[in-house]
Amino acid sequence: MIECDEGTRTWVLRTAATSYALRLTDEDVPRHVYWGPALTLAQIAGLGTGSRPWWDGFNDPDEGLDELAADGGTRYWPPALQIRFTEHTRSVEWQYTGYTIDAPHLRLEFRDRHYPLRFTLHYRIARGTDVVERWLELGNDGDEVEVVRADSASWVLPRWPGYRLSHVTGRWAGECALRRDPLAHGETVAASRRGITSHHANPWVMLDDGTATERHGEVYGAALAWSGSWRITTTRASTGRVTVSGGFGQDGVSHRLGPGDRLTTPVFAGLYTRGGFGGASREWHRYVLGHVLPHPGETRPVLYNSWEATGFDVDVAGQSALAEQAAALGAELFVLDDGWFGERTGDHAGLGDWHVNRKRFPDGLGPLVDHVHRLGMKFGLWVEPEMVNPDSDLYRAHPDWVLHQPHRRRSELRNQLVLNFARPDVAAWAHEWLDTLVTEHRIDFLKWDMNRPFSEAGWPGEADPDRLWVEHTRAVYAVMDRLRAGHPALRIEACGGGGGRTDLGMLARADQVWPSDNTDALDRLDIHHGFGQVYPARTMSAWVTDVPGFGTRRSIPLRFRFHVAMSGVLGIGGDIGKWPEEDLAFAREQIALYRDIREVVQHGRLYRLRPADDGVTALQYVAADTARAVVFAYRPRGRFPAPEAPLRLDGLDPAAHYRDPDSGDEHSGAVLLSHGLPLRLPEGDYASTVVRLNRI
Ligand code: GLA
Repeated sequence: MIECDEGTRTWVLRTAATSYALRLTDEDVPRHVYWGPALTLAQIAGLGTGSRPWWDGFNDPDEGLDELAADGGTRYWPPALQIRFTEHTRSVEWQYTGYTIDAPHLRLEFRDRHYPLRFTLHYRIARGTDVVERWLELGNDGDEVEVVRADSASWVLPRWPGYRLSHVTGRWAGECALRRDPLAHGETVAASRRGITSHHANPWVMLDDGTATERHGEVYGAALAWSGSWRITTTRASTGRVTVSGGFGQDGVSHRLGPGDRLTTPVFAGLYTRGGFGGASREWHRYVLGHVLPHPGETRPVLYNSWEATGFDVDVAGQSALAEQAAALGAELFVLDDGWFGERTGDHAGLGDWHVNRKRFPDGLGPLVDHVHRLGMKFGLWVEPEMVNPDSDLYRAHPDWVLHQPHRRRSELRNQLVLNFARPDVAAWAHEWLDTLVTEHRIDFLKWDMNRPFSEAGWPGEADPDRLWVEHTRAVYAVMDRLRAGHPALRIEACGGGGGRTDLGMLARADQVWPSDNTDALDRLDIHHGFGQVYPARTMSAWVTDVPGFGTRRSIPLRFRFHVAMSGVLGIGGDIGKWPEEDLAFAREQIALYRDIREVVQHGRLYRLRPADDGVTALQYVAADTARAVVFAYRPRGRFPAPEAPLRLDGLDPAAHYRDPDSGDEHSGAVLLSHGLPLRLPEGDYASTVVRLNRI
């Protein structure tokens, strides 16, 4: 619900359990009023904005209260909106021109007081959740302006005695490391300048007062739907005010808006919850499942991917044999990874030459695709459309298609360069070969990879080369959207050399993501923990691969590996042709178990019951109707035999009784919620268990 009090020019957005309010000042500046537990318009109308008489010559008392911290006047906050107009004017002065409510969407319209530049602040409630989506639109009716910074939104937090910032950092094969630290005074920036979301940070933050736990406490969060460069600045001022401002782009790269041009920023979604970090995650998951994913109701199949088994050594015989073995285990989707095209026999050559390697697949991919389909599985294929190896026919024909700058070297990473998708000819070429490939080979699933960040990001001959930073990402979105529209049954897995492209923008056109190239089950516990803070299990691909793990050299038992992968979208990535019969039998059993529980895992609510720091990691998924629950518990290091403490469950119906179909044990919901589930873990290292609980 959205209401407006025209007298005070106050707007209130009511989400499922919260309210968000803003007001215009006498000078037409949109100013934050309130964000928190539900309050009515009447209650909010009486609230001041926090201003006090201004007697201090060095602080603007209203600084940090702007809905979008525009540069100008006596504002010294990191600018969320910074424009260079003609005559070198830089400050923005708001002039309100009207609003529209098209529930659940509020548009507040402004223009600059002098220059013919229009601003629309968008607010949209994601129905059924506590998420408010915000973004900014600029429309230029005058001479060219330079938009130095255009954040999607600034979020203002209430005054608390202390603040703690949660976010993730990482690196390749070590993504999503959750950090939870006291918020530093000054500006804390999380960003990517790589042209992709990045492994190193992910575009979301959460803030609490330092006392929130998994189950309790107030948490604010904000997450950006963008897969290129981005920046989120959390500012803690000496005045005690805290704000979070975020959007696409990076320092030094601006947008030029000519007469008639528009600029629309990505959604920067925010939420408030009283349910602790667990509540915040469940709310984000509800949002992703209800408002972001293209086919949220769908249940993801068990996939087999040959990458870790065969690397670049793929051919029709080997892949057909793996497909038979995968089908026999119960896999439902077979994915042929890298190495099937051009001269791509290693990472040194062939990228960009998207025709089937006839030495490896003499009759094309058709026979393998048919074989996979006859085995009752869907067929998936790896592609990396935005990249090229210099040693490729594509690059020899179109050396100008890559990002490059005059007089500068073209830095290679993984022996590859980035194609400039902002060029319409490049994007059209990509759509054409992808469309042909999917059509001709009846491809059900694409793993869309992106294995290096931008460098020397230029576009010689183009008047405004900087626009490639945004337009590359937009073109990737457009190619994916067009491909999906042309092939409604096609499903996509987003991958960026592992987790380099996990974000809400990508999740609007991908059905799942590959969180990390690190498939070591122990490392994955941490990666999943960070990933699941915002993104639901329904989107989290997780494979069981061979040991010792390729990066860690750890030999983790198959049972533990399965139990970790089963807490997401289960896949198998091992060389199953070499697995002993005993392992194959166990795998068949576990895949059957996963197929039984996956509705709950993929569509249920996640409760992180125990963090890893007491030696046991435990989590639980509960079906929306509370009729079923699945508990996962892991204890990587054995300890001298002592009974494990019971696991206190969450989210169940206290009045119901639940039965564990494996042990036959019956439990009262109330007892599970208050006392807990007896935790039975085998002795020794890498102990794990999966417990099903079905309402009787
Ligand atoms: C990236 C992906 C891997 C695999 C390889 C293939 O690293 O993350 O899963 O597809 O590329 O080259």
